[in-house]
Amino acid sequence: MSLRSNPPAAALGVSPDAATGAGTAPLRIGVFDSGAGGLSVLRAIRARLPQAELVYAADTGHAPYGDRHEAEIQERTRRVAGFLRERGAQVVVIACNTATTVAVQGLRAAGERLPIVGVEPGIKPAVALSTARRIGVLATTRTVASEKVRRLVQDHGSGATILLQACPGLANTIESPDADGAGLAALVERYSAPLREARVDVAVLGCTHYVFARDLFERALPGVHFVDTADAVARQTARLAAEVDARVDPASASPVPPDAPATFASGPALEAWSSGDPQVLAAFARRWLGWAPEVRPMPC
Ligand code: DGL
Repeated sequence: MSLRSNPPAAALGVSPDAATGAGTAPLRIGVFDSGAGGLSVLRAIRARLPQAELVYAADTGHAPYGDRHEAEIQERTRRVAGFLRERGAQVVVIACNTATTVAVQGLRAAGERLPIVGVEPGIKPAVALSTARRIGVLATTRTVASEKVRRLVQDHGSGATILLQACPGLANTIESPDADGAGLAALVERYSAPLREARVDVAVLGCTHYVFARDLFERALPGVHFVDTADAVARQTARLAAEVDARVDPASASPVPPDAPATFASGPALEAWSSGDPQVLAAFARRWLGWAPEVRPMPC
């Protein structure tokens, strides 16, 4: 891995003298989502681990996952994780709450050899943050119905009222090129209204796409705190990366301002793949990250 002198190695999350363990090849991390939503997680990983090469896979041809059967999501997750492994990923991040809640356990049980990081709705931090003990969880239909979320509520929600709000159509609308339009604002308002009525003081963005509509949610739910787990996932990615690459020091990996387009404009390789229209992912990355990737068709 080439340790760049600017910024200094410690700011890169890499021990300056930890030259052992992984030879000279750069650390490579695979990140995937049903579409562009996982770019919110990719951004956080880039901030924490700017020395790593990143491979992003958008399963746009099979999105939205939130409306699919569990078996289909499990099959797609297995295939895309396999593809990322073939592309040299040493750690795979499932940057999708829906795929994590229904497929991560099976993937691990099936003997996937790579370390896998999942994303799940931040119910535990939300309960810790809430003073009213009233929390709203915004997520896909499949995530809301999952056994995983039922368990998170059971394990961490005691004494709190937790409103699970499914948001069908929202992820797709966020990805559509007219995402500034009234259609998106109307959907955000529709799904925010029950949380407003329930007087929640904390809302969980339980789908990686929703991070890109955060401004609209903040306007629809004034005074409510929002929980987004992207940085927590990036920290966990750094921890697992340290296990496969001794040059990574998770303790020194620090976040940079999440919107800094410079982290995308320069630095190690970023590959982008899509199973759908490559232009959709390219336009989204340009718009939200200031990154103009060449998106290649994903062969799986
Ligand atoms: N971004 C995904 C998540 O975090 C889901 C979007 C979809 O329904 O495909 O759940």
